Amino acid sequence: MGAVEIADGTPEGSEGDLDAESRATLEAASEFEYHSNELDLTGDPDDGNWSIRCLDVHKRLGGIPVLNGLNVAIPDETITVVLGPSGTGKSVLIKHLIGLMFPDSGDIIVRGQSVPSLTMPKLLELRRRIGVLFQDGALFGSMTVYDNVAFPLRQHTDYSEAKISEIVRQRLADVGLSDALDDMPNQLSGGMRKRAGFARALVMEPDIVIFDEPDSGLDPVRTALLCDLIQEMHKVYGGTYIVVTHNIASARQIGEYIALLWRGRIVEAGDAERMFSSDNAFVRQFLSGSAEGPLTMD
Ligand SMILES: Nc1ncnc2c1ncn2[C@@H]1O[C@H](COP(=O)(O)OP(=O)(O)O)[C@@H](O)[C@H]1O
Ligand SMILES: [Mg+2]
Repeated sequence: MGAVEIADGTPEGSEGDLDAESRATLEAASEFEYHSNELDLTGDPDDGNWSIRCLDVHKRLGGIPVLNGLNVAIPDETITVVLGPSGTGKSVLIKHLIGLMFPDSGDIIVRGQSVPSLTMPKLLELRRRIGVLFQDGALFGSMTVYDNVAFPLRQHTDYSEAKISEIVRQRLADVGLSDALDDMPNQLSGGMRKRAGFARALVMEPDIVIFDEPDSGLDPVRTALLCDLIQEMHKVYGGTYIVVTHNIASARQIGEYIALLWRGRIVEAGDAERMFSSDNAFVRQFLSGSAEGPLTMD
């Protein structure tokens, strides 16, 4: 790829008005190979090392290319952070992973299955194995916290109410909400709503858990606490976690594998340690979170 190619797929107001330094950074990025050859995207889809793979995914929305040749693989049993500025396609990417949106071209392979070509029953089956924590917790406003967390179990299992109660209470204890069982969502703080959403995302014992900006709207202390909780739950229950965020501090705190999303592509991905010590100028500028220029997180 080259900087010119990025410019081609980008809506107006982009490279044309970059200053020289930013342009130089982009030039450096254009020489950087995706994933530094450590990732064979074309290998056997059942090789078991990658829970999710996106292959050259393109998606236009409202005439604008949002996903623009996106390639990424998400390793199994790892906390992966997809880091990118606001409006760069993070939520759109999540919707593709769970088949709420479909690509114009390219493929999304989740656990060896091509999501865009699944029949609806198969897609529903797959979604049951994926827990999603949406940005605002997405709780049902008319249900108590308890009923919100019980909801997937009542929908998808034939468990007795006694068993459901046991699971729900355990999950709510896990996230520190034992005292909020009977509260309505609007009685909860933003952080508590996120934790309730997290409990609900875990209740079906998913193989894959996806978090859409779990840290948005939280102050730095609560963000750090929520990140602690995510790590703790991952340690206890395992699974493939994907945390999508624009918060570099969160990425630093919990990311074991980091993918940088920018203008509809993953510009680089790799183990956190390698990413944070990268000598690639683009990756460095990206991860430094400089408040200046077009490469910032906000
Ligand atoms: N359903 C939609 N129709 C048209 N444009 C959309 C739609 N969903 C998202 N977009 C646009 O796609 C871009 C990426 O959105 P999004 O994935 O929500 O960004 P973020 O990285 O902040 O989650 C934005 O410019 C947004 O306006
Ligand atoms: Mg979003």
